[in-house]
Amino acid sequence: MNSNKLRESFLKFFEKNGHKIVASSSLIPDDPSVLLTTAGMQQFKRYFLGEPSPYGNKVVSCQQSFRTSDIDRIGDKTHLIFFEMLGNFSFGDYFKEGAIKLAFSFLFEELKLNKQECYFTVFKGDKDTPFDKESFSILKKLGVPESKIKKMCRKENFWGPTGLEGPCGPTVEIYYKELEIWNLVFNEYFRDKHGKLSPLEQKGVDTGLGLERLAKVIQNKPSIFETDLFEPIMREISGKNERAKRIISDHIKACTFLISEGILPSNKDRGYILRRLIRRIIGLEKILGLSNNFLIGLVPKVVEIYQDIYPEIKSKEAEIMTVIQNEGERFEKALVKGLKQFEKISLKGNISGIDAFHLYDTYGFPLELTIELAEQKDLKVDKQGFESAFKKHQQISRAGIEKKFGGIGKQAGDESIKLHTATHLLHQALRQILGEGVKQMGSDITAERLRFDFSHSKKMTETEIKKVETLVNQKIKQDLKIKKEEVSYEKAIKSGALAFFKNKYPNKVNVYSIGGFSKEICGGPHIKRTSELGVFRIIKEESSGAGIRRIRAVLE
Ligand code: ALA
Repeated sequence: MNSNKLRESFLKFFEKNGHKIVASSSLIPDDPSVLLTTAGMQQFKRYFLGEPSPYGNKVVSCQQSFRTSDIDRIGDKTHLIFFEMLGNFSFGDYFKEGAIKLAFSFLFEELKLNKQECYFTVFKGDKDTPFDKESFSILKKLGVPESKIKKMCRKENFWGPTGLEGPCGPTVEIYYKELEIWNLVFNEYFRDKHGKLSPLEQKGVDTGLGLERLAKVIQNKPSIFETDLFEPIMREISGKNERAKRIISDHIKACTFLISEGILPSNKDRGYILRRLIRRIIGLEKILGLSNNFLIGLVPKVVEIYQDIYPEIKSKEAEIMTVIQNEGERFEKALVKGLKQFEKISLKGNISGIDAFHLYDTYGFPLELTIELAEQKDLKVDKQGFESAFKKHQQISRAGIEKKFGGIGKQAGDESIKLHTATHLLHQALRQILGEGVKQMGSDITAERLRFDFSHSKKMTETEIKKVETLVNQKIKQDLKIKKEEVSYEKAIKSGALAFFKNKYPNKVNVYSIGGFSKEICGGPHIKRTSELGVFRIIKEESSGAGIRRIRAVLE
């Protein structure tokens, strides 16, 4: 059965069983605490928490999903960064028995898989949550011998939540010929930001069955890369390094879908993920000895596989190719220099951590490219040395980062201290007027003006600019008190303080609050009361890169 049929048979099977078919949501989730959609349940998260679902309480979908957590495993037979997740969901309708029976019926009756080849895992319980006895008994009742039901720990058989908080619960996993194919999650708990579990009023079911893995099983292929979801791409890539070919095919798909969502290569967030993937494939392209423009030729193959299901990638094909080409050209120059440098370094023998880090830092060489190149010369790379060079570098740049984004330095004159406090007011006002999607991207203060960069996809309207300005001036007039507290980074975040560059903060941080209006982790210094600020005026609003706006403002 080809993959299009397989996808359809899943959706139709659950539709026949009373589920509403819901289209895949965007790879960019509406939950701001997650960068990319990692599972089918993400678009339904709030319905698990009791909000009524507009689709009814039983739905089925095939969700485009993205998992950077698996990046180091790509290249084996079964892991992917971009994949499609088939899933059925119940929001307070059927629970464990219903879900397990539906899964059995789809696999063993509809697809006629051999049940004897399957084994199952259930949650064995721990100090916080009991053994999932119910699932264990249901499986037995359905004829599975105890020897084929493995009791596993939390890491294996307890799922969720996505992001900072949400529904979660024990799982039953179905393995076919040693390959995990289907994860049935029984959402019976809510986990809050502090890790505390409480029972959910309404129990729910969330399942995930990887389409590529199912295709591997049904089409009886040695790996997912021989299925019809990959074969047209793999066929185009010559060379003997199977692992490199697999990584390229996975990543080119991932890049195609990311760009089709409007994501562009950059040094931040999703853009950074995209950049890293493109650069990694270009590095591998070198390893396989492929020509420079080879990569963009793979995009039409991705489109060919998915155009009937996701027509938007067909309509953006040319744009996708251009983005990849431009990023490739940008990287190419650094790469050529880096390769020369590598040749020089490798003459000395094994590659030291410092040298590997230098290649990374100066030429953008991903560590794995250095490793691949070294392996070709039978050389080793000191990975630990690389890690520690990386950490040291982070520590050194921390001071600079704090100066740039967290504090303005002790020498700064009074005026700039005022502008610094005004920056906090501006930041919060932007979040209030434009929404919480606004995040600080950078800040620069001189004696005369402040400059503030933030994430926002559109140009601000005149009215929005006015509203922000008025709100800041209102807060100045209210003569709010500015309070400083020294707390642990964790506590600061829990208290709701805004933080950026979160991995780079020290353990103890200063939190500055302005009345009840704004709260940020910041190096300071600040003025004492907002009335000292005078009148705040925005003098310019402009673009500062894709998805980033810049405001210049003064105090008069
Ligand atoms: N949400 C579950 C998973 O991603 C089904 O595995």
